[in-house]
Amino acid sequence: TGAFTYDPGFTSTASCSSAITFIDGGKGQLMHRGYSIEDLAEKSDFMEVCYLLLHGELPSHAQKAEFEQAITYHTMLHEQMLYFFRGFRRDAHPMAVMVGAVGALSAFYHDSTDITDPHQRMVASHRLIAKMPTIAAMAYKFSVGQPFIYPRNDLSYAENFLYMTFAVPAEEYKVSPTLARAMDKIFILHADHEQNASTSTVRIAGSSGANPFACIAAGIASLWGPAHGGANQAVLEMLQEIGHKDRIPEFLERAKDKNDPFRLMGFGHRVYKNYDPRAAVLRNSAHEVLDELGKRDDPLLDLAMELERIALEDEYFVSKNLFPNVDFYSGIILKAMGFPSSMFTVLFALARTVGWVAQWKEMIEDPGQKISRPRQLYTGYGPRDYVPMDQRD
Ligand code: CMC
Repeated sequence: TGAFTYDPGFTSTASCSSAITFIDGGKGQLMHRGYSIEDLAEKSDFMEVCYLLLHGELPSHAQKAEFEQAITYHTMLHEQMLYFFRGFRRDAHPMAVMVGAVGALSAFYHDSTDITDPHQRMVASHRLIAKMPTIAAMAYKFSVGQPFIYPRNDLSYAENFLYMTFAVPAEEYKVSPTLARAMDKIFILHADHEQNASTSTVRIAGSSGANPFACIAAGIASLWGPAHGGANQAVLEMLQEIGHKDRIPEFLERAKDKNDPFRLMGFGHRVYKNYDPRAAVLRNSAHEVLDELGKRDDPLLDLAMELERIALEDEYFVSKNLFPNVDFYSGIILKAMGFPSSMFTVLFALARTVGWVAQWKEMIEDPGQKISRPRQLYTGYGPRDYVPMDQRD
């Protein structure tokens, strides 16, 4: 009983207060702890952004070195986890493996599941950030039938991830600085995005006192959907389905047709009604990376640019403020870097882990924190008499 505000999809509900990320959807502005995403993407690196999200300030030289040391200390995975991976089917979607493997961390690292202990909370945060690349690379290696590659702590976070993903024991592998920089930038651009579906899921799961590994697994599950993190894979599949520039108008018409479930993947955003600033950074990056990889003539990039051009001139998309979002470009870059499309959402999860962890930590440390318990508008039957089975039609 009582009066509730009915807000399906939470379009106008602030579920928490937070000092981590600011978005002005009208202006197309995104800031972490007051620093613009453009500055961070161009001038910072992912480890520094992780520190900033977790601690609220850019690190000093010594703080950064200490943080990197704390992360690399935890890059290995408990050896027993290998059996867990091997229990999956080879054709399992890597996101299914991620949900399972990250949830399973709570069964391996009991000494960082007590959320009342600040030290354990910090160790859990470091463990999650450190182990995600290892788990993601293992999910990939398992899917292609190659041996797992152990982490190398002399490499940077992005370099080590590329190494664990693409190196094979029989051959020497040198990480390309161009690829490492592009990977790092993609990680920065995905690091946090205030109260999106997966972050809200992490907060809701965490509000009951669940351990951080379980909460992040819940976030990964929420991210998987095509309306959220699954969109990057869906964009690439859509571009492949369109296949040729001549067919763009046909697909645009389908996207406008309310009787057709088809949506233009990588377009639209709940909050940005101008332009997704992450998309603007990645759009430039896509050109740079493809240039440097010698894949500038990639027909998919060409198709994507043409689709973008036509959609941005189309009355339907303009009137509804539907602009390309971050997922529109990331898939093109990731494909050029050699990742299969099934790994795109995994990379999003890897990068978003620091955001999830920072938001979870902020919530736990908030003295006003309560269990999340929304109400509903009940639309079902009123009281009815129970009818015994032999008297039912
Ligand atoms: N293609 C065609 N029409 C669209 C699209 C689209 N991609 N997105 C929204 N619309 C239309 C929608 O049909 C609706 O029209 P109407 O008002 O006539 O009913 C109107 O625009 C508003 O859409 P909505 O579904 O009410 O908007 P929302 O804020 O609930 O959804 C969204 C936002 C991102 C889920 C949606 O735009 C979408 O499904 N986009 C495609 C999937 C995608 O690219 N997702 C990635 C989001 S960014 C990264 C991330 O969060 O992971």
